[in-house]
Amino acid sequence: MRTLTDPIGRSFNVLRVSLLDRCNFACTYCVCEDELNTTTPKSAVLSSDELIDLIGRLHHLLHLQTIRLTGGEPLLYPDLTKLTKGIRQLGIQDIRMTTNGFLLAKKVVALQQAGLRSINVSLDALSESSFYKVTKRTGLQQVVEGIIAAQEIGLEVKINTVIMAGENDQEILPLLDFAFRHRIKIRFLELMGMGHLFGDTDSKFFSRQAILDRISSVYEIHEQVKKCGDTATYWCTSCGHSFGIIANESQPFCADCNRLRLDCQGNIYGCLSSNTPIPLREVNSQQGLEAGLHAALGQKQMRFSGSEMSMLTIGG
Ligand code: GTP
Ligand code: 5AD
Ligand code: SF4
Repeated sequence: MRTLTDPIGRSFNVLRVSLLDRCNFACTYCVCEDELNTTTPKSAVLSSDELIDLIGRLHHLLHLQTIRLTGGEPLLYPDLTKLTKGIRQLGIQDIRMTTNGFLLAKKVVALQQAGLRSINVSLDALSESSFYKVTKRTGLQQVVEGIIAAQEIGLEVKINTVIMAGENDQEILPLLDFAFRHRIKIRFLELMGMGHLFGDTDSKFFSRQAILDRISSVYEIHEQVKKCGDTATYWCTSCGHSFGIIANESQPFCADCNRLRLDCQGNIYGCLSSNTPIPLREVNSQQGLEAGLHAALGQKQMRFSGSEMSMLTIGG
C-alpha cells in the first residue's frame, strides 16, 4: 500500500464517517430544528455492508489508521455493532466514535466487544437548565450515565464541550471539576461557523483566551506541547489534572490535518470547509476512486474558514 499525500505533504490516515444526518438532540451550535425534518431518507443512507465495502476500498488506497464514527448521532444507526465489527475485520484497529451519549449506557458493552476503542461525548452543561438551553432536549442524566459506563468498562473517554458566551460559559468550572473528579479528559471547543452559524458566530463566540482566563482564575495552569495531528492543545494544572482546548477559530491546526470525511450517502469531503460533495458510492474502479480522492485532497485548506454545510451532515 502506498500513501496518498497532498501538495504540502499532508497524508490522510484518519477517516471520519458520518453514519446518518439524524439526531435525537438539537444543539443550537449544530442545527436549527427545521434541519432535523429534512434529513436524508433512510433508504438513501448507506447500509453497513455498503459502508464496510467502501471503507475497505479506501483503506486499500489510504492505509487508514483510524476510523471515527460520527453523525448526526451515530448511536441511532441501526447496524452500528455489525458495522464496527466489519471495520475491525478490515484490519483497522483504531475505531472511535463521537456521540451525544444519550443512548450510550445501553449500547457501550456491545460496541466495545465489536471493536470500539475510544469515545468522545458531547457534554455542554451539568445543570439541567443549561443542558436544555443548549441541546433543546432533556437527558443530562442519561448522558452522564453513558460517560461513566464507558469509562468503567475501560474505553478511552473524552468530553467535548462547546462554549457559547452567555449560554454555557458558566459551566466551564463545574464541568472541569466533574472531569477532574472522574479522571476524564475534557476539551473545551471554540464555536465554529458551520451550517446555520456560517458567518454568524460573533455574538456567541467565547475564545480560547477567555476559556483560559476563566480556568486560570482558579487553577495554576501550564501549556503542554501540542501533538501533531491532534485537534486539541492541552494544559496541566499544578494539582496534576489536565484539560484541552480545541481552538478551531483562533488557532486552527490545519497545517497538520490528517483527516478526510465521508457522509452518509458515500460522498467524500477533503475538508470541513468544503461544501462540494465528491460522490464515491457508485464508483467501482480503482482509477475512479483514486480520482475522487485526488479531488478531495484538492479541497484541503490551510485555514478553517467556516462552511455552509451543517455539522449534522459532516459530523464535525
Ligand atoms: P480525537 O483527537 O481522536 O479525540 O478526535 P477529534 O478531536 O478529532 O474528534 P471530535 O469528533 O471529538 O472533534 C472535536 C472537534 O474538532 C469538533 O468540533 C470538530 O469539528 C473538530 N475537528 C475535527 N476534525 C477537524 C478538522 O479536520 N478540521 C477542523 N478545523 N476541525 C476539526
Ligand atoms: N462549533 C464547534 N463544535 C461543534 N460541534 C458541533 N457543532 C459545532 C460548532 N458549531 C461539536 C460537537 C461534537 C463535535 C463533533 O463537534 O459538540 O462534540
Ligand atoms: Fe446532535 Fe451532535 Fe449536532 Fe448536538 S452536536 S445536534 S448531538 S449531531
